[in-house]
Amino acid sequence: MVITIDGPAGAGKSSVARKLASRLGFHFLDTGAMYRTVTHVAMQKGVDLGDSAAVETLAAALEIRLENDRVWADGCDVSVSIRTPEVTRNIRYVADIASVRQILNHKQRSLVVSNDYVTEGRDQGTEVFPDATCKIFLTASPEERARRRQRQLLANGQEIAVEQLLAEQNLRDAQDQNRDVGRLVAADDAITVSTDGMDEAQVVDKLESLVRAKLPSD
Ligand code: DC
Repeated sequence: MVITIDGPAGAGKSSVARKLASRLGFHFLDTGAMYRTVTHVAMQKGVDLGDSAAVETLAAALEIRLENDRVWADGCDVSVSIRTPEVTRNIRYVADIASVRQILNHKQRSLVVSNDYVTEGRDQGTEVFPDATCKIFLTASPEERARRRQRQLLANGQEIAVEQLLAEQNLRDAQDQNRDVGRLVAADDAITVSTDGMDEAQVVDKLESLVRAKLPSD
């Protein structure tokens, strides 16, 4: 069984999806981490991100392993290095390559065959798992997402103006919404949940009740 959670950057998808998976006894798949891993390894190896064929070759050969909140690329722990601003800025080159998306979609589908999963990303309900048991589109207003990001960064000792974060976020939203394949859009049969004014526990409670209502009763 697959539950998909899609939505824009900063909607709090990852931590909510992780907690939801744990409440349901499902595994959790962070598909953004896969795009981050391909981007990071390509940068590290000096692959030209504009060279689609080279990035495709790299993605096809790369062994990506995700376990809890850790990520390994060909056996190397890349959990921290895939989250740098440089990687975040460059992901769009990788995410725009249709053949790379196909490779990652295939890896995502082959992971979920033997277990129940909550998967999180941009295209999970639309492209990767069109037959998912329950599809959630999680969102929040741009201002609320930027303020949350600011609080997160502040907690890590980084003080960045909310206007700057909002501008960066608007750019990422536009890139995610406008790519030719796998673009960020709610599936027709997704339930849209806006998290403005809700704390994380409230969001997880809400999603849990939405999902449980869709689970087959045995
Ligand atoms: O969820 P995240 O911020 O870690 O994702 C990083 C980027 O990866 C995001 O800007 C777009 C891309 N991505 C994607 O194209 N498709 C997915 N399923 C997940 C992420």
